[in-house]
Amino acid sequence: MTSAGRTSATPIRRDSPPGFDVEKIREDFPILRVMAHGKPLVYLDNAATSQKPQVVIDRLREYYRAENANIHRGIHYLSERATEAYEDARAAVARFLNAAEPREIVFVRSTTEAINLVAQSYARPRLQPGDEVVISAMEHHSNIVPWQIVCEQTGAILRVVPINDAGELVLAEYERLLGPRTKFVAMVHVSNALGTVTPVRRIVELAHSRGVPVLLDGAQAAPRLPVDVRALDCDFYAFSGHKAYGPTGIGALYGKASLLEAMPPYQGGGDMILSVTFEKTLYNVIPFKFEAGTPHISGGIGLGAAVDYVSGIGLERIAAYEGDLLAYATDALAAIPGVRLIGTAKEKVGVLSFVLEGVHAHDVGTILDREGIAIRTGHHCAMPVMQRFGVPATARASLAFYNTRAEIDALAAAMHKVRELFG
Ligand code: ALA
Repeated sequence: MTSAGRTSATPIRRDSPPGFDVEKIREDFPILRVMAHGKPLVYLDNAATSQKPQVVIDRLREYYRAENANIHRGIHYLSERATEAYEDARAAVARFLNAAEPREIVFVRSTTEAINLVAQSYARPRLQPGDEVVISAMEHHSNIVPWQIVCEQTGAILRVVPINDAGELVLAEYERLLGPRTKFVAMVHVSNALGTVTPVRRIVELAHSRGVPVLLDGAQAAPRLPVDVRALDCDFYAFSGHKAYGPTGIGALYGKASLLEAMPPYQGGGDMILSVTFEKTLYNVIPFKFEAGTPHISGGIGLGAAVDYVSGIGLERIAAYEGDLLAYATDALAAIPGVRLIGTAKEKVGVLSFVLEGVHAHDVGTILDREGIAIRTGHHCAMPVMQRFGVPATARASLAFYNTRAEIDALAAAMHKVRELFG
């Protein structure tokens, strides 16, 4: 049962907007009771990975306790049960993204693998020397490097849409870059380093008006915003399980069925074939054509449980709660002398990158850690973003719907300590 389903009489804390009982939600996440260096853990590294609710932990345990078998192969009871659970999870992910059919969901290791799959299986056979692939200046390395590799392989050229000082995509430049040589657009939905929400509908519309397909990197968006791939009309959408309250090592690629069907396999092996002879191999139907070898069965099942849990709470409510907490945290950090926020887009989610004048981000992170506060420091796998803002690294606090205003107060108090230590 999800927390959203509970209508208990537990009083709602002052720091929850009406209808969002964050204390009740926190009960779903056992790890939030951990003490770090003798202090209550304040986990603000959710953009790196999110914590897991008990329903996901229980689902994994139950799979290994009572269902473990290889899938799509066995005719025995357990194999059929595991197969059904895995395919139910695929259907849950399809519902989560509002895909038309479960076969449009390919289970992969991660967003990274999903993007590499599209770069190699969709783009590579179609790109000619001089063709162009468009990305943005706020991409994670995983939406840069696969395109650089495919450009090297084909002679295509990578074009980069700039961002402004707030960390927003310069839409006019995007429109200008879309030309007769543009063959593919790969764009982030939510920046992991800045929190910026990109105008994905418009990005897709503008590309489609020129016949160009679009992949959206949804690693940070899928856990935070309602995603409807049919309303967006994107051609591909990728996200990772572990950032969406599910297990690590599993992710999903949504692709329009007609596109997936027209693509060659990404990897060869068992389960992705219909028949094999030394002369010729016939490939399986989608999505299995893209799932060579024994997959991460428990991961897929755990991801199904995670997306059902999140959907039970409701992405609209999650986005509203996190938006409220972002505003509170932005004010709290902005009030600390010497703090500069990096990423101040109007459309933004709960990712707060910042620098403190005269103090290296790693020192900030180390001192916060001693206070029990987990943040990420560094370039966040987005080195071009750091270069754009002229900083080597930032400290980054990233929120989830189980975080509270009290935790933001703890962050602000610890930041004052950092200032005192370095003052
Ligand atoms: N991509 C993850 C992050 O932003 C690891 O921290």
